Parts: sequence; structure tokens; C-alpha cells
Amino acid sequence: MRILTGIQPSGKLHWGNYFGAMKSMFDLQEKGENFMFIANYHAMTTVRDGKALREATREVALDYLACGLDPEKTIMYRQSDVPEVQELAWYLSCLTPMGLLERCHSYKDKMAHGFEATHGLFAYPVLMAADILIMNADLVPVGKDQKQHLEVTRDLAQKFNNAYGEIFKLPDAYIPETVATIPGTDGQKMSKSYHNTIELFDVSAKKKVMGIQTDSTPMEEPKEPEGNSVYELYKLFATPEEVAQMAANFRAGGYGYGSAKKELLNAYHRLFDPFKEKRDQLAKDPKSLEDILQDGAKKARWSAAKTMEKVRKAVGI
Ligand code: ADP
Ligand code: TRP
Repeated sequence: MRILTGIQPSGKLHWGNYFGAMKSMFDLQEKGENFMFIANYHAMTTVRDGKALREATREVALDYLACGLDPEKTIMYRQSDVPEVQELAWYLSCLTPMGLLERCHSYKDKMAHGFEATHGLFAYPVLMAADILIMNADLVPVGKDQKQHLEVTRDLAQKFNNAYGEIFKLPDAYIPETVATIPGTDGQKMSKSYHNTIELFDVSAKKKVMGIQTDSTPMEEPKEPEGNSVYELYKLFATPEEVAQMAANFRAGGYGYGSAKKELLNAYHRLFDPFKEKRDQLAKDPKSLEDILQDGAKKARWSAAKTMEKVRKAVGI
């Protein structure tokens, strides 16, 4: 089974990215042939600073390696190191009905957030389909918000196969039901566009955790933990016993949000401090990082070339 996922280097990764996307990829690492790429072409839809894009691409690679990506088990590469995806995206574009893209929530959402309506943003799902189909992926771990893009991918694969013969597999999204939407410091979905994130290696983690919005129920009163952001975030980091203890504390009364926040912060450090140590080590050795990315690029490109040989023959190029 071939598993592939991508993430955009469009800012620093946060807790929502870790629990919503990275972790399920690490959990699957033992189960198949794995590909993980840094979607720098995709990030150009929103990042207009070349230096920042190059730097963020490197930072994402470091974050993944520090948090659990094993380059012996997962082929990690930069999207732009497999330029054939652009070629395939064009072939798919020629089969893509405008209406299919007009219906995409992520495009409408970007418009609603004031982004300029560019062709890149509009055609984003076609490039994403090319990323997936070029590697012949069976399974694509993504967050819930990417479900529709996977449907577009299957649709385009089907259209291509109908027109040119059975070339592409129809990939499935892998969205674990257990992964809910991770709340940010203001209680809405954690997202860099809402400025409510806590980054993976956030120097202001303490300040941000202590600043998570809570209601004003007095300390002495019993509180219902379910749905409370501090408790929901704690669930991600703590053991089932610790979670049950916090729930009991809230329900008993005499337990305030301040204490819960401290426990959340401790649980975060318990998980991430060792990752931080590993990241600092890796960051000191840029040559090794580049070697890992180059090695990944070589393997990924070889795989893409095999697909493109069949595709070009089928389309008459
Ligand atoms: P952001 O919303 O900060 O821009 P992205 O859209 O780049 O994050 O998300 C990258 C990946 O992380 C996607 O697979 C997405 O589903 C997942 N993800 C991001 N934020 C969350 C969240 N709050 N809860 C669950 N998953 C998330
Ligand atoms: N659209 C994805 C996101 O924003 C990133 C992405 C690009 C991706 N191409 C992909 C994810 C292919 C999985 C497979 O999170």
C-alpha cells in the first residue's frame, strides 16, 4: 500500500497541524510505502516572499524529522523537486470542469478571507490531484478540510481513465474519526489565518496557554469539562488516566482553569521537549538535511517518471 501526504510550508506548524495531520502520518509509517512532501508550489498561492518560502520549506522538513518522520521509512521530498507534477496538472486541467473547482470550499473560504482571486488558488485542487496521482497513492492522510480535494482527485482520475484508459488508481482519504478539529486559543478551529495558534516549538507557549479563553465560572464552582478548550487540548497530550482525573477535578469544583492550564503546559513539554532537542541537533547540520531531501527527491522523481511515461503515451505527447 502506498501512502502519501503533503503539507504547505506557508507558516510555522502548530498543534492543530501536529494532531490533525502529522501524527496520523507517523502512525501509518509502519504500515506501507510512505511519501511525504513539502508542498512549496501550493504555498505560492499565499506566500509572495521567496526567501520566506525557502526558509519555511526547510523548517517544515526539520519539524517532521524532529517529531517522528523516519527517512528510512518515509520518502520526504520538496514538491518542486518533482516538476513533472506541473506537467500532469496541465493534462488534468484539460479534463477539469470549471464547475468542479467553483464548488470547492477551500477556494470560497479563501475568497471570504479577502485573498485575491488568482488562477493559482482556483486551480489548487488540480495540482493536488497531480501530486497524488503521479505517485500512485492508495491512501492519503489529511485533515477533514481536505476531504473535498480528495473527492476532486478521484473525480479527475476517473475522467482521465475514461478518456485515456485505466492509468490511475482511485486514492482514498485517510481521516481518522478520532481526530477532531483542534481548538485554538480563542476556541475556534486552530488556524494560522485566525491568529490563534500555538506553534510546535513556540517560545511563547506558556503565555499562549495561560491566555486560552475560558468562561468566568468562579473557581469554587463545579464545571463541565467537555467542550472546554483547555480540557480538549489536554486530551491530546495526556494519558486517559490523567484526562479522567482532570475531568473529575472540574466536576468536583474548587479546581480552576489556571491549574488546568498549568497541567496542559506540563503535558505539552513532556511530549515536545525531546522533539525540540532533536530539532536543535538537526538544525546544526544543514548538509544532512539537504542530503535527506535530495535522496527523497531522487526516489520520488523516479516513481513520477514511471507514471509520466504511461501518461504521455496515453495522451499522445
Ligand atoms: P492552517 O489552518 O493553519 O492554515 P493548514 O490548512 O495548512 O493549516 O493545515 C495543514 C494540515 O493540518 C491539514 O491537513 C489540516 O487539516 C490540518 N489542520 C490544521 N489545523 C487543524 C486543526 N485546528 N484541527 C485539525 N487539523 C488541522
Ligand atoms: N492541500 C493540503 C493542505 O493544505 C496540502 C497538500 C498539497 C496535500 N498536495 C497534497 C495533501 C497532496 C495531501 C496530498 O493541507
